[in-house]
Amino acid sequence: PVHDARAGIGPRPEVIAHRGASAQAPENTLAAVDAAAGLGARWVENDVQRTKDGELVVIHDDSLSRTTDVEEVFPGRAPWKVKDFTAAEIARLDAGSWFGSAYAGARVPTLKEYVRRVERHHQKLLLEIKNPQLYPGIEQQTLKVLGNEGWLDRQHLTGRLIVQSFSADTLRTVHDLKPAVTTGLLGKPSATALPGYARFADLINPSYASLSRDYVSAVHAVTGPHGRPLEVFVWTVDHASVARTVAGYGVDGIITNRPDVVRRALVRP
Ligand code: G3P
Ligand code: CA
Repeated sequence: PVHDARAGIGPRPEVIAHRGASAQAPENTLAAVDAAAGLGARWVENDVQRTKDGELVVIHDDSLSRTTDVEEVFPGRAPWKVKDFTAAEIARLDAGSWFGSAYAGARVPTLKEYVRRVERHHQKLLLEIKNPQLYPGIEQQTLKVLGNEGWLDRQHLTGRLIVQSFSADTLRTVHDLKPAVTTGLLGKPSATALPGYARFADLINPSYASLSRDYVSAVHAVTGPHGRPLEVFVWTVDHASVARTVAGYGVDGIITNRPDVVRRALVRP
């Protein structure tokens, strides 16, 4: 039976499988979503970009090189940018063999395929709009796909979907288009800048490297666009000791390639 993530861990901090359970399966594939579900992760994170012919696909880099066999399949097409390939061309690529032969044949999923798999596992989605400067209008298009797939109904909007980006402009656009969507700003703006971002961002999602208890408190002290305190989902934490440290700071979510390691670290003895 499909793992039911509603029975997963909780309540706080949330554990978010970064690019799926990407230490266990090739990042941003459906196999990585399945692996995350198998490890009991209630949330998965992904990265969304756009093909030449306008399809939204789930992949981290702006080039297909690192995570697919594109250089073998299309040798003359350097630098193999996602935006220069059609969805049909990308569908031919193997996005699993680079990670391990057991994953040979895994594909770069479309966003539509991806959210259907997340739904099947009853998981929650932290969706990153990646490199939005390369894809004008990707905010509206992402919302359209999510809406078509039923992810903008009340149930998903209240607790199962967060849209994040390093681009404040992108988050402002998402908020203006659909104010009910929960949004997260990647990075660590100064404490004095937080009220400005809180007009359109519900979360501030920094790297763990320079995080402090005081910063988490400063974020929590600001009220977000939906009248609730801003929250913090920190990335990318793969070690138990770091997970315990940031949990002690009061973070609301921990984004990790190893949801099993973080889950175990957070269990009280
Ligand atoms: O979710 C946070 C993290 O994904 C941001 O960095 O490069 O892995 O997309 P990156
Ligand atoms: Ca990401």
